[in-house]
Order: sequence, then C-alpha cells, then structure tokens
Amino acid sequence: MRFPKYEWQPTSVEIAAAAGLDPDQVERFDHNTSPQSTEWAADIVVEGSMRLNEYPAASYLELRRAVADFAGLDTDRVVPGAGADELILLAARAFLDPGQKAVLNAPTYPLYRIATAQVRSEIVEVEAKPPEFGFPVDEMLVAARDAELVWLCVPSNPLGNRPTDADIEAIIAATDGLVVLDAAYAEFTGDDWAPWVDRYHNLLVLRTMSKAFGLAGARVGYALGNPDLVNALDGVRPPGSISSLSVDLAIAALQAPDHMRSVVGSIREERVRLAGGLQGSGLRVLPSSTNFLLCEVGRRAGRVAEDLMSEGLVVRTFSDAGPLGTYLRFTVRSPRADDRLLSALQRSLS
Ligand SMILES: Cc1ncc(COP(=O)(O)O)c(C=O)c1O
Repeated sequence: MRFPKYEWQPTSVEIAAAAGLDPDQVERFDHNTSPQSTEWAADIVVEGSMRLNEYPAASYLELRRAVADFAGLDTDRVVPGAGADELILLAARAFLDPGQKAVLNAPTYPLYRIATAQVRSEIVEVEAKPPEFGFPVDEMLVAARDAELVWLCVPSNPLGNRPTDADIEAIIAATDGLVVLDAAYAEFTGDDWAPWVDRYHNLLVLRTMSKAFGLAGARVGYALGNPDLVNALDGVRPPGSISSLSVDLAIAALQAPDHMRSVVGSIREERVRLAGGLQGSGLRVLPSSTNFLLCEVGRRAGRVAEDLMSEGLVVRTFSDAGPLGTYLRFTVRSPRADDRLLSALQRSLS
C-alpha cells in the first residue's frame, strides 16, 4: 500500500546550485522558521557531544519536567516528541482505527491528511471559503459530531487566522471524539491552552520548539493532555526518537523563555512592516497572528515564485487545483532578508 507523501520544497543546496548562488545566500520564506541564529546553542551541543555513546533516557523525564514547568502543568500531562510532526503521526496511530472518521478544516497543514491516511481512516474536509477563509464553525460542528478525531490548527497554517476560543470550545463539546489542537504558532498569539487539558478529557494540545523557540533543526515538540491521553500516546511512542542533544537544547530554551518572548516581539513588529511592503507591491495580505503572511498574488503566483527562486528566495506555493493556487505564503524573516524579498518582488511584478 502506498500512502500520500509530504511534499518538500527543494533544499537550499539544490536551489543555490540551480541559481548559481552560495547556499548561504538562499533565504527560506517557506518554512515558517525563526530568523534568529542559535549561537547560544554551541556550548550546550559541545557539552552534550561527550555523551553521544549513550542513548537518551527513553522516558525523557527531564524534558517532560521542563515542559511541565513552562506550561504550568504536572509532568503526567506531557508527552515529548521529535517535533509536533511525530506527535501528529502518533496521535493518528493511537486514536484512529481503520475506517473511522477524522475531520479537518481545509486548507490546513498537510500532515493531518497524511497521518489519517496512514492508519487507513477516512478524512472529511470542511472548506474555508475565499476570499476571507473564515473558520466555518457551523459546518465543522456538524462534521465533528460523529468524528473520532478532529484536527484543528490554531492559529491556522497556512491561513494565519484562527477560530475564536468560543468556536474551539463548541467543537470540543460537540464531539465525543478527540480534538487535536495543533498550536504550533501559539506563542505568536500569546494563547495558552494548557489549562484546558484539565477541563476537557478529549483535548490534546500540540506545541513545538521549531517556530517561536527557533529550534526547528533540533526536532522537539510536545503534546499536552490528561493522563489517559498521555498514556495512550506514550504507548505508541518510539523509545528514543529525540536525540540527547535536542533534549538539552529544548530544556535550555524552555528554562529561559524570555529569549523566545523577545524574538516573538521583534517578529511581530517586522510582520507589520513586511505586510505594509507587500501591500505596497499591490498584493492582498490576509490578516495574520503568526510569523507568516498569506497573500493573494493572482494567476501570476507561480511565475512570481519562480522569479524569486531564481534569486535564492524560496516562498511557499500551493497547488493550482486548490483554493490557494493564486496565493503565496511568506515567512517573516529579518528586516534585511525581507527587504531583499520586497525588492525582488517588485522586479517580478513590474
Ligand atoms: C501547523 C503545524 N504543525 C506542525 C508543524 C511541524 O512542527 P515540528 O517542526 O515541531 O514538527 C508545522 C510546521 O510547519 C506546522 O505549521
């Protein structure tokens, strides 16, 4: 049996080779990662490199403690994973049986569909409608009623918007199934759904160290849920998928969250500036509470993305067949990188 595959953009090395550039000149506007370098990590990695002959502790108790302290919960509410991605795949494995129904609000993060297909469950898609792509709460409530699992991406990737808390709570209340609330970008909105896991027995919140914490290369995420959900997820978790170096880095970042908060502050400021520049180039910029901006570019979207790619600027494109075929998504990066994007865009659009 073959499953749908996650489609990645080409690597920076491939793009640099095609554009005749040095890989350092390639700027990724497609991954929603942090523009901040991780120099602070060097000493931690050197120290951890002395112990690489041993496996990481399979229970990941220290990492669970650091997450629990950061989230204000007990450790029995925490499951670590090799990125939120691993936890999405594990959630499907733990909570979906073949033939059962999972619901999502499209367009959304592609891995929910893939994770659902891998366990041979059925996906029901509720479409958000252009041009605003607001959250279709009424249709979601109907679809959620007899679903085994509801995938909710809040705030939404790729839309940048989000349902209200009242909408989310209505969906949790409407279903006997599990609601997986993927809050990969929550630090940018200041939302914290951790206290909800004690209120709702059927809520699993996913978080990541990849976005606001700037540790995408380390591959660490975590799930928050009541102890029954935690035990079920732990039951399907591989023993050592998070490297010991990544554990050390995640613990250090969680124990000094002010660094993350200041990075989030500067990204939010830069988001306003970049949105202004994109609007100034004639693009329709959708409101965003995340570290990326979704823009309507029109039928030229594919050509514009190619022009940018030829200058080493990689942006997120979408299938022509879907509702976002005429849109591009841009990660907010450093002011210098964003200026490079804006001037290249102007050349492409003129
Ligand atoms: C909504 C969403 N969930 C999960 C992920 C993956 O997170 P991680 O790097 O922790 O696997 C992403 C990455 O883009 C995302 O946008």
